[in-house]
Amino acid sequence: MVTTSDSAWTADDVPELDDRTVVVTGANTGLGYEATRVFARKGADVVMACRSTDRGEAARRELRDGDLRGSLDVAALDLADLDSVRSFADEFGATHDGLDVLCNNAGVMAIPRRETADGFETQFGVNHLGHFALTGLLLDSLRAADGEARVVTQSSGVHERGEIDFADLQGEDDYDEWDAYAQSKLANVLFAYELQRRLDRAGADVASVACHPGYADTDLQRRGPEMAGSRLRLVAMKAANAAFAQPAEAGALPMLYAATAPAIEGGEYVGPGGLFDMRGAPTVQQSSDRSYDRRRAERLWSVSEELTGVSYDLEAAATAE
Ligand SMILES: NC(=O)c1ccc[n+]([C@@H]2O[C@H](COP(=O)([O-])OP(=O)(O)OC[C@H]3O[C@@H](n4cnc5c(N)ncnc54)[C@H](OP(=O)(O)O)[C@@H]3O)[C@@H](O)[C@H]2O)c1
Repeated sequence: MVTTSDSAWTADDVPELDDRTVVVTGANTGLGYEATRVFARKGADVVMACRSTDRGEAARRELRDGDLRGSLDVAALDLADLDSVRSFADEFGATHDGLDVLCNNAGVMAIPRRETADGFETQFGVNHLGHFALTGLLLDSLRAADGEARVVTQSSGVHERGEIDFADLQGEDDYDEWDAYAQSKLANVLFAYELQRRLDRAGADVASVACHPGYADTDLQRRGPEMAGSRLRLVAMKAANAAFAQPAEAGALPMLYAATAPAIEGGEYVGPGGLFDMRGAPTVQQSSDRSYDRRRAERLWSVSEELTGVSYDLEAAATAE
């Protein structure tokens, strides 16, 4: 359900971002790539956090041919490996005074069951746990930003059919690739809202916002069929993208809006307000009833702290200040 409309909003409406530092995960392609282009065009210094620095550098070279005022740096970040997440955060903290915007964007969809370096089911591990750890480890940098910082977490409309299966979080007993994707995307929204509640309690000048891109033509849809070796599914995905998906530039708009629009407040959910919420200009929307369940969110938070070994300690930090 759409609650707020700002129908004319485009990438041109992103405010000037000079002297702002932005981290985008999965910046080498798709929505992350398109958002990176706009952030840098508006003057931001963007750290492109990519699992392959070769692919990241290739994307950076392409982007640099455009009309950019900000800078682009590529840094290695594999969300399927907590050691890589820690190294990225350590390096970022050592080289930057603060972080204005963190876009938790990278993701995988409907892939066959695989495990991350730490033994997590990959969709839950990359889409949720990797970003949970990353955000916690970058919290000091976010709090050191000059003015309000934002954490934007990219979910999906598919979160609406998601459930968090606490009894079998890693899909060890029973694995369905779409259920696992929906679980990870519900986890993204639960995380974004719970983070906001914790930031509020700590009085931190950081806003946490969830978003979804609708349906956009990117590499996302081909990874699952490719990994499963299914030519038929690959052809079907390509045909669906050609018929129904909006271009990646349009799919990046909700993330850009969530990251930069002055009207946005922490705890909101942004998505395209057009046909079936799959395309169109970004608006503030309502996510699923389940995503507002605080008990579920708190439980997911505790489990995520336990699994990743990353503890936010926000309230302790507030007491010490
Ligand atoms: N496109 C849509 O219609 C749609 C709809 C709903 C939600 N979303 C969400 O939007 C986000 C971006 O997706 P997209 O459509 O732009 O897909 P994409 O074109 O496939 O891009 C995904 C990005 O995530 C990166 N990534 C994958 N695994 C990673 C890992 N272990 N560590 C670090 N980065 C990793 C990919 O890197 P590589 O290139 O190296 O693989 C790529 O840069 C995802 O969270 C997705 O769930 C997209």
